[in-house]
Amino acid sequence: MTPHVILRTHNLSKKYKDRWAVRNLSLEVHRGDIFGFLGPNGAGKSTTIRMILSLIRPTEGRVELFGYDLKSHRSKALSSVGGIVEKPDFYSYLSAVRNLDLIGSLNGGVEKKRILEVLDVVGLSGRGGDKVKTFSHGMKQRLGIAQALLSDPELVVLDEPTSGLDPQGMKEVRQLILHLAKEQKKTVFLSSHLLNEIELVANRMAIINKGELVVQGEVKALLDEGGRYVVVEGEPKAKIKAVLKKNKKLLEGFTERDGSFDVKMDFDDVPMLNNALVKAGVRVTALVPRRSLEDFFLSITENQGKV
Ligand SMILES: Nc1ncnc2c1ncn2[C@@H]1O[C@H](COP(=O)(O)OP(=O)(O)OP(=O)(O)O)[C@@H](O)[C@H]1O
Ligand SMILES: [Mg+2]
Repeated sequence: MTPHVILRTHNLSKKYKDRWAVRNLSLEVHRGDIFGFLGPNGAGKSTTIRMILSLIRPTEGRVELFGYDLKSHRSKALSSVGGIVEKPDFYSYLSAVRNLDLIGSLNGGVEKKRILEVLDVVGLSGRGGDKVKTFSHGMKQRLGIAQALLSDPELVVLDEPTSGLDPQGMKEVRQLILHLAKEQKKTVFLSSHLLNEIELVANRMAIINKGELVVQGEVKALLDEGGRYVVVEGEPKAKIKAVLKKNKKLLEGFTERDGSFDVKMDFDDVPMLNNALVKAGVRVTALVPRRSLEDFFLSITENQGKV
């Protein structure tokens, strides 16, 4: 295994009764990555994370962490991994410090200094002595991240850390994740069901659906793959068509669909296209930049629950 791959899953699979929750999943996380693990509800994200953190056993396949096989070298493999799955669970009548102390003691003990450090990293340094029941949802999420950081792991695995947060709370957690990667040199593996969330922080990503890998790679490349296009709507259509045909150099092509036009082009040229349309006497009603990956992910999400 090349040293910079710090997490690798080989055909990882988990079957519950006669149903595969995760199937043949092969992931590769590189040192320094913020790796986004994207999938709609029920896709198998938490199940995968449970297998990576060794909380459940795979039915088939295996996990390698820092070059160690999780099954045969469990403690070495997990020695520099910290994580949380689903909602972090705390004793609400105990303080944040006491909760972290208890969790630390399950893993051989943790110094008070370290507890204060992680609370500081997640922005809770002033609230360590307060009971967790007085914490907002966002503060509990951040306390969950503090828990994952306790042992100062190199790989931090977070399952939907922004779930249920308001936009401000989401932003704070995003900034925290970026801080962990940039300042603290952590590799972060985080799951989400929102493409936008992943796009804002991750450099690499994988999409899973119904337990199977759909695509994996660089976020930028994946978002550009299949292209970006702009949906153009307005009247009269004949004039729109004439403008699109005349600007062949800038516009890479177009297709007409349901009375609107999908134009393959650089988003930077949208104002130019708007000008050209207006000049030609078109009443423009919409110019909407779209990306194929976004459409694709949306179509997966929209089809959830339908058989
Ligand atoms: N303990 C279990 N027993 C039986 N089936 C399970 C169990 N845990 C998960 N599943 C099933 O496995 C599939 C994947 O679930 P999982 O929780 O991994 O999805 P997820 O991507 O984390 O979804 P969400 O976004 O809702 O958290 C689902 O169909 C779920 O019902
Ligand atoms: Mg989940």
